[in-house]
Amino acid sequence: MAFWNRKKNPAAGEGVDLSRLPRHVGIIMDGNGRWAKKRGLPRTAGHAAGAETFRTIAYYCRDIGIPYLTVYAFSTENWKRPAEEVSAIMDLLGKYLQEVLEKMERDGFRVRFFGDLDPLPPALRGLCLQAEEKAAGLTGQRHQVNICLNYGGRDEILRAARAWGREVLAGRQSIDDLTDEVFSRYLDSRGMPDPDLIIRPSGELRLSNFLPWQSAYAELYFTDVLWPDFTPGVLDQALLAYQGRQRRFGGV
Ligand code: FPP
Repeated sequence: MAFWNRKKNPAAGEGVDLSRLPRHVGIIMDGNGRWAKKRGLPRTAGHAAGAETFRTIAYYCRDIGIPYLTVYAFSTENWKRPAEEVSAIMDLLGKYLQEVLEKMERDGFRVRFFGDLDPLPPALRGLCLQAEEKAAGLTGQRHQVNICLNYGGRDEILRAARAWGREVLAGRQSIDDLTDEVFSRYLDSRGMPDPDLIIRPSGELRLSNFLPWQSAYAELYFTDVLWPDFTPGVLDQALLAYQGRQRRFGGV
């Protein structure tokens, strides 16, 4: 796509065919805790390093021309972690959201949140809504970053089902007209293409409730690299693997 400025990072995507990039990449940012433990640091230091990696990778995706990036930052199950860790992650998110608010317009991004924002600390929720409102007012083609916050894929499907059901009761939708395409409009990802490639670092081989509806035909890529050590070079490896796959979508 011509509008992406690849000149900013001439080394971007070395070895990768820039004309066959996935449109949408999803990443489960895993391994922060183990990264910290290996260094004798508190787990929160791992999350701080992971948040820096998030920034690097988001800009890299923008620079090479991947239009959509979705990252799993905090799941509906992550509340089970010790209160200090949860609060450290929330503080980090607040810090980076402040940065998003300041730089989104200038740097060619648009942000959206997937997940149920209601249970978040009010200040953080306020920042999310402010960022989404700002994003909605931005014009032009931009790199879309979706941050999954208090997100669970089953929860997303249930919220969508409830919203659709309310529309049926109000007479604005009919049960017989429900299709894949109609239902997709009620999901957090409405209006966006499904992820083509989902990456999970840190050696775990599962999707953990990340985009179960949208990942039906996604290519999966797993690597042992821990998220704080994840670099544009590792993303290139994932992109090369993706470009070597044959996608048939159920056909031959
Ligand atoms: C998983 O690693 C990571 C998380 C649950 C939190 C991810 C949060 C961030 C990267 C910080 C802020 C995010 C943004 C978007 C600015 P883990 O703790 O499960 O690692 P482990 O499996 O090694 O214990």
